Amino acid sequence: MIEQSLLLIKPDAVKKNHVGHIITITEEHGFTLKYMKVLQFDRESAAEFYMMHEGKDFYEKLLDFMCSGTTVALLLERIDAVAKLRELVGDADPAKRKPDTIRAMFADGVTENAVHASDSPLSAKREIGLIFKGGY
Ligand code: PPS
Repeated sequence: MIEQSLLLIKPDAVKKNHVGHIITITEEHGFTLKYMKVLQFDRESAAEFYMMHEGKDFYEKLLDFMCSGTTVALLLERIDAVAKLRELVGDADPAKRKPDTIRAMFADGVTENAVHASDSPLSAKREIGLIFKGGY
């Protein structure tokens, strides 16, 4: 089934000029870019986006990092987009990252991990709504 998912290119990857390369990788894996937005998270918008992680030990670090610079959001479409994008992004844990995943190629560590991908169709709907609510 054709699905949509959200990819965030995080501040570390934007600062290092990996945006074009990451978009190319998604296109090579059959994703179509429907909409794109360049944005700056502030504390409030980052807390809303990551509300399910509030209270976890990495939560404050995650918010600080996401507010530290520009993020590029991509609304991507393909068959089974959510699962396929998670596979392409790779694990948050550096020890579990498979080669040829975006994180294996571009992440520097556990916090500075280059990208975010929605983890379920329900999350994708919520996150796409949050990021693109002000327009495309
Ligand atoms: S959990 O507890 O299993 O739900 O956590 P996980 O899915 O692995 O991670 C949730 C998001 O937090 C990021 N993360 C971290 N950020 C900063 N520091 C540390 N140590 C850390 N560990 C996990 C992780 O990348 C997830 O963010 P997104 O943007 O969804 O990738």
